[in-house]
Amino acid sequence: MTVNNPKTILITGANGEVGHGLIEKLGKLRTKEIKKIIALDLNDLDPILNDKVDVFVKGNVTDRDLLSDVFSKYNIDTVYHLAAVLSTTGEKNPELAHEVNVGGTFNLLSIANQVASKENRVIKFIFPSTIAVYGIPSLKLKAQNPKVKENEFLNPITMYGVNKLYCENLGRYFSSYYQSLNTDHRPLLLDFRCVRFPGLISAETIPTGGTSDYAPEMLHAAAKGKKFECFVRPDSKIHFMAMPDAIDALIQLTKIPENKLSGRVYNIAGFSVSAKEIEKMVKKHFPKSDISYKVNPERQKIIDSWSEDVDDCLAVKDWAWKAEYDFKKAFEKYLIPAIKNKYK
Ligand code: SER
Repeated sequence: MTVNNPKTILITGANGEVGHGLIEKLGKLRTKEIKKIIALDLNDLDPILNDKVDVFVKGNVTDRDLLSDVFSKYNIDTVYHLAAVLSTTGEKNPELAHEVNVGGTFNLLSIANQVASKENRVIKFIFPSTIAVYGIPSLKLKAQNPKVKENEFLNPITMYGVNKLYCENLGRYFSSYYQSLNTDHRPLLLDFRCVRFPGLISAETIPTGGTSDYAPEMLHAAAKGKKFECFVRPDSKIHFMAMPDAIDALIQLTKIPENKLSGRVYNIAGFSVSAKEIEKMVKKHFPKSDISYKVNPERQKIIDSWSEDVDDCLAVKDWAWKAEYDFKKAFEKYLIPAIKNKYK
């Protein structure tokens, strides 16, 4: 790495929850090896992140010219493509979801692929996918299949899930099958890697537009002394992960040598809990919290279609994946202390 031309990480969707966590963590990891960080987002960068990124680009991942310009200016060698329209917003505006989730991802994959091929260098493309790629047809089947494998129940019922599943396949295509029949040299393929995140819970930020949002919303509302009406049934069960584990998973997956990967798409397990169990845990720490239930049938249907938990043995085998936080530890050692500090 030369000083004049340092290699660079591009993070799209920098203002999002995962963007915040990742930029914070990469900032802490800065050493000689750590690269310049280019952050891209639709909106102005959250000022809290300003001194942690080297370059900020305001713009849309659907703007191909803008992305080409970013790639031609900077020697990007790792992309964390986090920008996405989540599941509930996606159901309110499926066209927008498709444009951003598919159009934006295709733009980035194909530009990164062109650059890797032309400049004959490796570009890693790290992509967060989601449990929304699953679509389990009934609660009975959901209960009978508590730990879903990567290739099971891939019948998503949301635009977001459909988009992410397709983009996982686009990533596999660009990393394993793309062969550019109209050039005479074999292109260097993209190094695409993907994790399927469960619902994420952060102490620092609150998600917007997702369907697993009832868990973080319940917790943050209780910490702020606000009432919370949960939009799914108390028995609704999916799996969640504490944000530090989600960030670690992205970083671990980036570092693993390509020849150790037996796949491109990995399930990663956190902890599987019902809304009622979350309510109990929240009430244990915030006894005055006022939590009730008013089911939104559309959002309920989405949660019912997602797996309770996943089989992540591929990630365990290939890169020794293990979440640091189980349910109790996530609340007691991370969420509760950090949230109490945040809203004190
Ligand atoms: N958290 C996402 C959502 O609710 C799922 O990955 O849309």
